[in-house]
Amino acid sequence: MTPPDSAVSVRDLRKTYGSVDALHDVSFDIARGETFALLGPNGAGKSTTIEILEGYRDRTGGAAEVLGVDPGRGGTDWKARLGIVLQSTGESGSATVREQLTHFAGFYPNPRNVDEVIEAVGLQEKQKTLIRKLSGGQRRRIDVALGIIGNPELLFLDEPTTGFDPEARRQFWQLILALKDEGTTILLTTHYLDEAARLSDRAGIIAGGSLIEVGAIDEIGGAEARTPVVRWIEDGVARSERTTEPSRLVAELVDRHGGAEVPQLEVVRPSLEDVYLELVERFDSSARDAASLHAAALDTTPNGGVR
Ligand SMILES: Nc1ncnc2c1ncn2[C@@H]1O[C@H](COP(=O)(O)OP(=O)(O)OP(=O)(O)O)[C@@H](O)[C@H]1O
Ligand SMILES: [Mg+2]
Repeated sequence: MTPPDSAVSVRDLRKTYGSVDALHDVSFDIARGETFALLGPNGAGKSTTIEILEGYRDRTGGAAEVLGVDPGRGGTDWKARLGIVLQSTGESGSATVREQLTHFAGFYPNPRNVDEVIEAVGLQEKQKTLIRKLSGGQRRRIDVALGIIGNPELLFLDEPTTGFDPEARRQFWQLILALKDEGTTILLTTHYLDEAARLSDRAGIIAGGSLIEVGAIDEIGGAEARTPVVRWIEDGVARSERTTEPSRLVAELVDRHGGAEVPQLEVVRPSLEDVYLELVERFDSSARDAASLHAAALDTTPNGGVR
């Protein structure tokens, strides 16, 4: 079932937690060397998907292959090829940063150099500090360090930069771009859409347990959603127009203003965040419509409207 260059292949993935239908019919592929972002609101099913692929959770239905192996049956050799940063780990041991990383490096056949990893996550100053004495953001950096220490072929990052200060986030981006350059395949979830846009080649948007969109970062949502918007003020009124020819419209506006400055003129290209918000909003409103249709149908059944 797996295309030949796939690192991850998922078909009709389904997961229920008791009565909670957390995932249904999710299908996507991640090519080797690709960085794929899984985006979606809280509770959409991102961590559930990732944890099934990591072999941490059982699936209810569907098929999955990760580095050619069913994650439900992956052995130690397979696990050693993965790097995992869970959404919450809270490393709090009584070892120092260096001790912990050295210890974990020992589990892998071909680990990275401990000093390089400490430097890559910006913890040089803290390498002799006990992990439990680190700040929240510094502990998160340990999680990332532990995720890459084994030199993984495939790296899972579930909201890796939550709690990072802006400088640490930029440093993390450099690290991920370097790993990409080395050919590492990466599956990332994040609520920072600028981060997803900066790091990923493709993204999937998941909402209510379904994959509602998948595509290249600069194409997701379709050409229409990416059409630039020109905004300006005219006769005291805020105006805006979507156009594939913003230069032509701007020239027209300048003309109309007799060559003078057009008040508050701007040309905005919708960002990944704009496109994401529009897609999720559309999904939410169709889910609301479906729910009210369902309620109306119940009301028209015999005795349905009788309370
Ligand atoms: N162990 C569990 N038992 C029962 N329900 C769960 C469990 N884990 C997750 N769920 C439910 O499954 C759904 C998907 O959760 P999941 O953690 O995958 O979301 P997420 O997309 O990662 O959200 P977030 O952005 O908040 O991390 C949610 O409705 C959640 O309440
Ligand atoms: Mg999650």
